[in-house]
Amino acid sequence: MPAAGTADLVIVANRLPVDRVTLADGSPGWRTSPGGLVTAIEPVLRANDGVWVGWPGGTEQDLQPFEFDGLSLVPMTMSAEEVKDFYEGFSNGTLWPLYHDVVAKPEFHREWWDAYVGVNQRFAEKAAELASEGATVWVHDYQLQLVPQILRSLRPDLRIGFYLHIPFPPAELFQQLPWRRQILEGLLGADLVGFQMNGGAQNFVRLVRQRVGHKTHRDLVYLPDGRTVKAAAFPISIDAKGFEELARSEQVEKRAETIRDALGSPRKVFLGVDRLDYTKGIYARLRAFSELIIDGHFDVEDAVFVQVATPSREQVEQYRILRDEIDRLVGHINGDLGRIGRPAISYLHSSYPREEMAALYRAADIMVVTPYRDGMNLVAKEYVATRYEDDGALVLSEFAGAADELRQAWLVNPYDINGMKTALLEAYAADERERGRRMKAMRKTVLQHDVAAWADAFLLELAAARGAHGKTVRPAKRS
Ligand code: ADP
Ligand code: F6P
Repeated sequence: MPAAGTADLVIVANRLPVDRVTLADGSPGWRTSPGGLVTAIEPVLRANDGVWVGWPGGTEQDLQPFEFDGLSLVPMTMSAEEVKDFYEGFSNGTLWPLYHDVVAKPEFHREWWDAYVGVNQRFAEKAAELASEGATVWVHDYQLQLVPQILRSLRPDLRIGFYLHIPFPPAELFQQLPWRRQILEGLLGADLVGFQMNGGAQNFVRLVRQRVGHKTHRDLVYLPDGRTVKAAAFPISIDAKGFEELARSEQVEKRAETIRDALGSPRKVFLGVDRLDYTKGIYARLRAFSELIIDGHFDVEDAVFVQVATPSREQVEQYRILRDEIDRLVGHINGDLGRIGRPAISYLHSSYPREEMAALYRAADIMVVTPYRDGMNLVAKEYVATRYEDDGALVLSEFAGAADELRQAWLVNPYDINGMKTALLEAYAADERERGRRMKAMRKTVLQHDVAAWADAFLLELAAARGAHGKTVRPAKRS
């Protein structure tokens, strides 16, 4: 573990790659945290000699920096009040729904905002303490949008990058936020602000011009203090080769066969893998699938739907409601359509190691990814990476960032249940040639644009970050 002031790369994210859990024997241990952010950053930290500052979940205090599986981790503690107001409140009750097209209604509470400011301050102070002179600090995601500005004021020598893993909303939605100006100014502390899509970068620059009044030109913002901030898209990806290698292993192939046997060897296996989140469109996709059985297109002997749904943010009311709704729907569908030993939907809440995920992908003929809005969706890319025989079919929402790259998927509008039914049926019935043609093209994209290429592109751009712009710009107007 580097001493204070010695790390050349500091990753700052709300989550550490591991969560504090109580093991079966009652002792404390660690478990891989769920979500796309961890999947993407872990290989980057492995390739560089850096530290990762983040929260290990829970409210345990006095956690010390530690090494885990070769990674240097610096745990940030959180009080029960901060978990409630910062994590469940402002991060996941305000920003998450606001940034995902207001799929659920965001709540605005001043005490949540105060907690957000306080936690961002602490994360920034920790990064300032660990970073060496002139180091690179890479801040991640919507929970920490104020860190760049606070860190800049503490350590002007640092090169600061920020990456948003979720969509950045259009001005029409963002401006609902009572603290919109503070968030924009927080992000402007970075030299480079990265987004999943071009649209997000454009939304940001437009908002900075309109709401903060800074001069902008294309993807650049000129600040009165002489700094230039760049906003650009860097679509995130996965360790595609690693997933393919895993998929090719004998152990995973065998496990995939066992999974299919355990499902009763149906002709086709449909698969969904998501955090249990209302943005993911789980309810609508299961309804679409069940209606295909009701309409007589196929039978439970022909097809089964495996839905893996890891519980997430369980203390947030909307997530609890969603879990109950899906539990009820699955019970209903299986009660009405299942037969003994043949449920229509095989529903699992478990969290799995990578090998098991790869085996699930290998066991699935049709991967169904139908979010109402998603920054990228790494599950879609993971599935594609494991289909090394150019087989399998991907049904993908047009509203997932991944749809921009995976154009050969069966693209669907998740709000249109009939449209989804048609796409599921087409993917089910597609011949080998059609599936192969589509998968081959998608695999080429995913293997070429992997997580290493994503991180290299971001870090290279950050290293090239412009110095003083030397332009005369007016000071920001106060609103
Ligand atoms: P999000 O970041 O919103 O959760 P993504 O699809 O981008 O969505 O990323 C999810 C990541 O979490 C993927 O890498 C996926 O493999 C992993 N994951 C999802 N569900 C599970 C699970 N049940 N067990 C293990 N890993 C999971
Ligand atoms: O990728 C989106 C994301 O929200 C990450 O920021 C987060 O780490 C992950 O999904 C899982 O969510 P949480 O950290 O709230 O469990």
